[in-house]
Amino acid sequence: MQRTFDVRTVREQFPALERTQDGQRVVYFDGPGGSQVAQSAIEEISHYMVRGGANLHGAFPTSVETEEIIAQTRRSAADFLGAEPDEIAFGPNMTTLTFAISRALARMWKSGSEIVVTELDHRANVDPWLLAAKEKGAKVRWVRVNPETLTLDPADLESAINERTRLVAVGLASNAVGTINDVAAISRRAHEAGAVVAVDAVHAAPHIPIDRDAIGADILTCSAYKFFGPHVGVSAVRRDLFERLQPYKVEPAPDYLPDKLESGTQNHEGIAGVKGALEFIASLGGGASLREKLLSGMQAIEEYEADIAEKFRSALREMPKVKLYAAPDDVRKTPTIAFRVEGQTPREVCEKMEREGFFVADGDFYASTLAERLGIRDRGGFIRAGLAPYNTLEEVETFLASLESFAG
Ligand SMILES: Cc1ncc(COP(=O)(O)O)c(C=O)c1O
Repeated sequence: MQRTFDVRTVREQFPALERTQDGQRVVYFDGPGGSQVAQSAIEEISHYMVRGGANLHGAFPTSVETEEIIAQTRRSAADFLGAEPDEIAFGPNMTTLTFAISRALARMWKSGSEIVVTELDHRANVDPWLLAAKEKGAKVRWVRVNPETLTLDPADLESAINERTRLVAVGLASNAVGTINDVAAISRRAHEAGAVVAVDAVHAAPHIPIDRDAIGADILTCSAYKFFGPHVGVSAVRRDLFERLQPYKVEPAPDYLPDKLESGTQNHEGIAGVKGALEFIASLGGGASLREKLLSGMQAIEEYEADIAEKFRSALREMPKVKLYAAPDDVRKTPTIAFRVEGQTPREVCEKMEREGFFVADGDFYASTLAERLGIRDRGGFIRAGLAPYNTLEEVETFLASLESFAG
């Protein structure tokens, strides 16, 4: 169902957009580092704490309610990712969850095992696997990024995967340059070889609809603070793998899924907030089920953002002093725009833009291997302007006008 995207209504859902600097509304282009939080998420967090929280497994109402909120959020998160509720585990963030999963998965690796990681990925989907491989003596194969197209080299990928490959770790989208990888094709190849596929969906989750099964992710991890919620990590682990997985845990803690991956007491108010964030996304979509609403809501976000992002990129291409880092037009991308300005460090540019009320970030954003391959890691990395559904074309145009005054 085609829904019209009303950015004014969307903006009303984000109290942080009221923030001003020197009498002007600030412009948030730092979404890839962490989005602003939807009102519905803030309310769920506050509601949980105001009503009285508790730990789990108690015989009293606040404990029972806490378990119910967690169960509800698992159902919503499962609908968001196309998984089942008991395949969903929460944790502090993607990195911590990936360390826990990598340590557990590596327990199953026999000698002679190999793993595959990529140069395009955020290091949170690289180093936990490298460390696990080191401990188990597994060989690591890296898939190269093509520095011209900012896409993974398919021939290199093909030759990296073989019958000894136990794991392929790949990002759904690059948090630095926005390239969306063809993860479905990568997973097919990995599964033919009998490998597990771990997908980092942190950057993709706020921008595109996700179907865990369609992309063949055995493990898929994202973080709610990127999709309009609080700081909570979310992993979907395919049931047959999850049942075999033995995460490090304390003896009395549950050994059933998904709780066995959730060490210690969870961030209950944060988990309540994740449900609120997903309600916001669902409110942008239509359909009978929550899954349909979430998918169509994300589709509406993708279409809205892609349109503005294309105008943004086209204008940057016209600025003589700007070097844009973007995959070719036929490659699907998130609205995350990476560039540099000749003769200035990314930090200097961001400081100038901050004085105009634009919150925009610089650095390698832990996509440090990519920055290295592009020769900019030790030169301040990228300027990264990331769009969110609450950003407008007008904000982009005023940003470009300011930038033009010193980069045009
Ligand atoms: C693509 C990507 N992966 C992983 C992470 C790490 O996520 P977290 O902060 O939840 O550990 C980030 C954070 O910026 C990211 O953008």
